[in-house]
Amino acid sequence: MTQKKAADPAATNEYVTLTDHSTGENYDFPLMPGTVGPKVIDVRSLYGRSGHFTFDPGYTSTGSCESKITYIDGEVGVLMHRGYKIEDLAEHSDFMEVCYLLLNGELPNAREKAEFEDTITHHTMVHEQINYFFRGFRRDAHPMAVMVATVGALSAFYHDSLDINDPRQRMITSHRLVAKMPTLAAMAYKYSVGQPFVYPRNDLNYAENFLHMMYSVPAEQYKVNPVLARAMDRIFILHADHEQNASTSTVRLAGSTGANPFASVAAGISSLWGPAHGGANEAVLKMLEEIGSVDNIRSFIKQVKDTNDDVRLMGFGHRVYKNYDPRAKVLQKNCHEVLDALGIKHEPLLEIAVELEKIALDDEYFIKRKLFPNVDFYSGIILKAMNIPTSMFTVLFAVARTVGWIAQWKEMIEDPSQKLGRPRQLYTGPTERPYIPLHKRR
Ligand code: CMC
Repeated sequence: MTQKKAADPAATNEYVTLTDHSTGENYDFPLMPGTVGPKVIDVRSLYGRSGHFTFDPGYTSTGSCESKITYIDGEVGVLMHRGYKIEDLAEHSDFMEVCYLLLNGELPNAREKAEFEDTITHHTMVHEQINYFFRGFRRDAHPMAVMVATVGALSAFYHDSLDINDPRQRMITSHRLVAKMPTLAAMAYKYSVGQPFVYPRNDLNYAENFLHMMYSVPAEQYKVNPVLARAMDRIFILHADHEQNASTSTVRLAGSTGANPFASVAAGISSLWGPAHGGANEAVLKMLEEIGSVDNIRSFIKQVKDTNDDVRLMGFGHRVYKNYDPRAKVLQKNCHEVLDALGIKHEPLLEIAVELEKIALDDEYFIKRKLFPNVDFYSGIILKAMNIPTSMFTVLFAVARTVGWIAQWKEMIEDPSQKLGRPRQLYTGPTERPYIPLHKRR
């Protein structure tokens, strides 16, 4: 039996062996260790040596890249950014600090933090011409449609930071994207309600500024509620990054072609929009409203469990978490705090959500499939209490996730082993056949 070893084994002497029983050949593949988490099998030489590809639709067993940014242990429900637990960041940090951490690898010292905040603050305005760009949209357009278009259009306005091979331009684009997303998001909202756009204010922090641009009107003074600003900041922290999820993978794939980062992030926004991903927060609220009352929960759960019905319990289940999503835990606690702080004594949707969670966590269907609440289950209730329109929920997710997208994009561009992302397939279509002229076709 022949042994075919990889030419360049990775930094471990451990291998797994694949045996091709049709030829009797063995192929050894190195195991690559991470700093934490399971080792991965390096199959990069598989096709070259064996003539076979792997088949993994949905990438359930595929690691697409090496990354130092975010770690998830889905079995126990752990999420860490650069080694810091999400619970600690949500409790003790703020969004600007988390942005710095994701982009630069370390928490900033006081001077670095002040400089970073100053830089982001001074990039919040968008080119004035973008105001006119907005006017081409229907007022009833979904704000995510507006975001896909306007973020992609930033590449038409900021030509001076499009050279992806220049580290300084990469950093400027990263800052521009983080800074301008809340401005564009608030503009999308203002446009939908027919109010004038509100310019950013440099004396406000990131979350305060966003609320100011969303809710202030020229006719009167708007005072940002600090409870709302802190809640918003925490929501931004909790959504900042989540390793190789669908939208981040989309950003990396688009960026791997050399596409500019504004275009790559616009691709990420499109991917986030779907209800299986970021669109779930909007879907959760609609679901709770449709359930309408605690009395209807059992019949709703019955519908979810019916395999002939494609209704899902939105805000439940996750590809990676087979335990409670740690972000959902923070949000669940936050939800009560925010409602208390806002003096909301009775929120029927929260009552439905709490009861729904209790019933689902006790139900064999959900237990067997390891389905737990995810980040979207409680975020919608907080956002609703903060008076954020439902159609803006996923936009807020996009605002927060932009730093994760751009940090991952930057990491990829700076990785010397980075290659064009180009998966293969198992072809099951027709084999070669002769072309039939139109007049001979039935
Ligand atoms: N309600 C009812 N059944 C579910 C749900 C759910 N929310 N999620 C999964 N299942 C069932 C599914 O029907 C399947 O059952 P069976 O084995 O009998 O066919 C099993 O659980 C496995 O589901 P899957 O769809 O194969 O698993 P996946 O890893 O592909 O799906 C998911 C992950 C997030 C798409 C899915 O759990 C889901 O659709 N959840 C609802 C949408 C949601 O809340 N999305 C937000 C995800 S977290 C934030 C983010 O990433 O943006």
